[in-house]
Amino acid sequence: MNIILLGPPGAGKGTQAMRLVEKRDMIQLSTGDMLRAARTSGTAMGKMVADVMDRGDLVTDEIVIGLIEEQLEGDAKGGFIFDGFPRTLAQADALGDLLAKHGQALDAVIEMQVDDDALVARITGRFTCGNCGEVYHDVTKRPKVEDVCDNCGESQMKRRADDNEESLRNRLMEYYKKTSPLIGYYYAKGDLRSVDGLAAMDVVEASIAGALG
Ligand code: AP5
Repeated sequence: MNIILLGPPGAGKGTQAMRLVEKRDMIQLSTGDMLRAARTSGTAMGKMVADVMDRGDLVTDEIVIGLIEEQLEGDAKGGFIFDGFPRTLAQADALGDLLAKHGQALDAVIEMQVDDDALVARITGRFTCGNCGEVYHDVTKRPKVEDVCDNCGESQMKRRADDNEESLRNRLMEYYKKTSPLIGYYYAKGDLRSVDGLAAMDVVEASIAGALG
């Protein structure tokens, strides 16, 4: 099963993708994580996208489509979860073509519905484990032991450079201008399933499971 998690910044895409990986043996393909990894390792592409990401603008279609194309070569028994991709109509068309080229198809697009007010609190309170990527929050999901990851036991918590109110405003504008048209696009194709992303994490997880059947 190949699925897209679609929603604005802070909708909970990464949180739910990790749960799907655990429960369904799927592979998470997050273009945001791939771009951050390129920045950390200091590649030419990583340096090129750093300012764009910190401002909250979108990286070019060409770069992110190239990143996804490389990953589709791998074997994914449980299927792929596209997290944060596609974000433009050009990326959506490219994904359809790439999947077809690999003899695969898209099975569902999960739209995570949230309202903007909740997103500011979610984004400004977020931190993640630098070792395994587990996502935490200052209020709604703290590790059991301060600064120690529940998942891997490491103490490498970090916060993203673009997780501030100014950048978030821009990320939201980019979402409404360039990404939200994908809701209509996938609705017309019959692939869209919508869930309430404002519910508690376990409830969102159950709604996604229900939507996937
Ligand atoms: P990316 O990394 O994809 O960021 P994003 O889309 O802005 O999404 P986030 O990771 O911020 O949020 P999320 O929905 O995963 O929420 P999370 O689960 O962490 O992209 C970053 C940048 O890279 C972009 O701005 C762009 O520059 C570039 N980029 C990436 N992909 C691109 C593409 N395809 N094209 C062009 N450019 C691209 O949850 C957030 C917080 O809320 C956490 O603290 C979590 O614990 C908490 N939380 C989650 N669910 C709940 C819940 N149900 N209740 C309460 N709290 C919750």
